Amino acid sequence: MWYQGLSSVASVGSPIECLRKHLCVKCPSPKKPGLISRIDHSELQSRQIVETGGCMSIWRPFTQEKTAPNQVKIARGEGAYLLDEHGKRYLDLISSWWVNTLGHANEEIADAIAFQARSLEHVIFAGFSHEPAEALCSSLERLLPQQLRHFFFSDDGSTAVEVALKMAYQYFANQGVKNRDTYINLEGAYHGDTFGAMGASGSNSSYHATFKSFFFNTYSVKFPGTLDDEESALFALRTFLAKNGDKVCSLIVEPLVQGAAGMRMYRAEFLEKVVADVRKYGILVIFDEVMTGFFRTGTMFAMNQTQVIPDFLCISKGITGGFLPLGLTVSVDAVYEAFYSDEPSKAFLHGHSYTANPISCAAAVKSLEILQRNNTQRDIQRIAELHTKHLAHLSHVQNKRSLGTIAAFEVDSAALAQEVASRLFDQGIFIRPIGNTIYFIPPYCISSDDLARAYVQTAAALRSM
Ligand SMILES: Cc1ncc(COP(=O)(O)O)c(C=O)c1O
Repeated sequence: MWYQGLSSVASVGSPIECLRKHLCVKCPSPKKPGLISRIDHSELQSRQIVETGGCMSIWRPFTQEKTAPNQVKIARGEGAYLLDEHGKRYLDLISSWWVNTLGHANEEIADAIAFQARSLEHVIFAGFSHEPAEALCSSLERLLPQQLRHFFFSDDGSTAVEVALKMAYQYFANQGVKNRDTYINLEGAYHGDTFGAMGASGSNSSYHATFKSFFFNTYSVKFPGTLDDEESALFALRTFLAKNGDKVCSLIVEPLVQGAAGMRMYRAEFLEKVVADVRKYGILVIFDEVMTGFFRTGTMFAMNQTQVIPDFLCISKGITGGFLPLGLTVSVDAVYEAFYSDEPSKAFLHGHSYTANPISCAAAVKSLEILQRNNTQRDIQRIAELHTKHLAHLSHVQNKRSLGTIAAFEVDSAALAQEVASRLFDQGIFIRPIGNTIYFIPPYCISSDDLARAYVQTAAALRSM
């Protein structure tokens, strides 16, 4: 039960302040008895994890708090390493949920942030502009295909996706077309955890099944494991489009690699065919490059390895080098023009308090500059080559694959993957398998020796099980 999970990070025995008065048996009666079961402090006593003072809980993402292991308190970051409060070092092989590109506590980005914070920390972005936002958009404009040149800021990956989904629908609505309310995705997609992003991911997403009755209409293109699969997926898509193409506003995909589905990779040629098919029906194309952006796949964006220029590009995660949250939805002229009007109701009525936060933008500007340097580019190339080399020698695993700085493979079961993860953790290497998929997606500053060690220890753990 979800509420029982609240107990796992609570400290016990503090009788005075309880932030969960309605849950705690030591505190005054619940205001709505019977609404939620109360937690017994004796249960908490046996599994005290963190001294938080009082009965408060820190409720972590994607975590069943009742069964989760103790969390490690991280005190510092240093390049590819995280250091806990006792000084133990952990090699961060998942770049802290795929955000960190240039290493932890990168000094140049830290300095850029400090400098910006002293001059302008934030300003409302409606009616105002500022140098860091403009500098960031100019830098990106130079790196993007010239068609993608309208920048809308938001806070993170999910909101960058929400913006694209809403803009795609309103693009048609502003032109008097109100029945295009269906989205096409690629089976297994993950586009974030807000309602729109969940809905666009499709009702068969294992992450979001609880909420599926809220989701809007979607059609999922079958994920192709083989060339034959590609043909049958395309045939099914064409059949769907022939009947429903005029009801679809957009296709949304993670190009070339589906992250949360387990770093599943697919061919650019397949994506190009899907895009060509949907475009015959005037459907807009959204590339969600929240995970694949900023050289994760070896090129600036995964789209650079395809012939496609999407109508929307969603970016976040690595944009600030992993320092601060920031999202951007970049769109083409046709989209921008559909909103550009004398009628106020045709505007995009959407915004977030921290839109284009100057400190986040300053971090992003500096990060982009570092990313383009020759030595960073050499590091990205080096990691890609090392993945290929080490994967070739790895046995007892299936479906070995890599693209740029991402490497992944499957082991026999999710339990085995977890066992490997916990062995590595004891040895100071942090991975976070998805089901039975183990993947490495390191910061670009990781040393060749450290990456080699990760493969060697993984192989040793697998051999011993
Ligand atoms: C492809 C993709 N899109 C969107 C998101 C959501 O990003 P955020 O967690 O920043 O909201 C993620 C997160 O992992 C992602 O991988």
